Amino acid sequence: MKLSDLRIIVTGAAQGMGAHFVQRLVEAGAKVAAGDVNEAALAKLPDGVFKARLDVSKEEDVRRFVADAAVAMGGVNALVNNAGIIRDGLLVRKDRNTGAITTLSTEAWNAVIGVNLTGVTLMTREVVSTMVRNETRPGVIVNISSVARHGNRGQTNYVAAKSAIATNAVTWAREFAPFGIRVGAVAPGMIETPMTQGMNQKARDALVAAIPVGRIGVPEDIWLGVRFVLECDYFNGRTLDVDGGLVM
Ligand SMILES: NC(=O)c1ccc[n+]([C@@H]2O[C@H](COP(=O)([O-])OP(=O)(O)OC[C@H]3O[C@@H](n4cnc5c(N)ncnc54)[C@H](O)[C@@H]3O)[C@@H](O)[C@H]2O)c1
Repeated sequence: MKLSDLRIIVTGAAQGMGAHFVQRLVEAGAKVAAGDVNEAALAKLPDGVFKARLDVSKEEDVRRFVADAAVAMGGVNALVNNAGIIRDGLLVRKDRNTGAITTLSTEAWNAVIGVNLTGVTLMTREVVSTMVRNETRPGVIVNISSVARHGNRGQTNYVAAKSAIATNAVTWAREFAPFGIRVGAVAPGMIETPMTQGMNQKARDALVAAIPVGRIGVPEDIWLGVRFVLECDYFNGRTLDVDGGLVM
């Protein structure tokens, strides 16, 4: 699809990669609807973008946001499922000194699954229903997965969600093909955003040493992947790893 033909919803759009995608889409002439729980940061996005509070894990929010965005943009033909959170922790941890056992809390499990998996599913269900109801075609959905989907220590909840949304790009590509809707995923490696800013220097240096291209990524690297999925009508059901070669 041509970027200028897009009437596209971006979730988690207030900062980091989402805000960068919005900026690039506006520059390309797309109509954009930006949703996020952080309303103050949303307000800083470019003029002309439809901006509204959206918690992707809440069914009512999702219904209202998609309906309002479709009215504001004159329809919807694309979605970037970008909203995501982390609540890292080992599933079972034994303290070396005291021997005490601690575990990943059920709250941390539910929070990450709620946003990163249920949220992606609710958004996709609502947007695709709207497209099908309005006989909008072609359409395209992009899931922002992660290279963590291959498995990563300390991220049981995140890995479960990010691998599920990559695999469901396949499920949905098969299910939505009769509607003229493609689905793809982009799996970033380590990218410089507010999500990763808390990392200490030692861990950062070790990570850079493990990335063959020799640097942490920036949101523009991932935009190039998202843009490819949006534009290439022959890309379907696959996940594009954009990680500098970290997990090859
Ligand atoms: N930064 C990385 O290294 C990296 C690597 C791989 C994948 N990712 C994924 O890329 C996506 C963007 O990450 P980022 O680094 O820009 O993160 P970020 O924390 O900078 O931005 C995430 C945005 O999502 C919003 N959000 C959180 N919960 C929400 C909810 N329930 N409903 C709507 N919005 C919500 C936040 O308010 C925030 O604006 C996420 O899905 C993340 O898991 C990031």
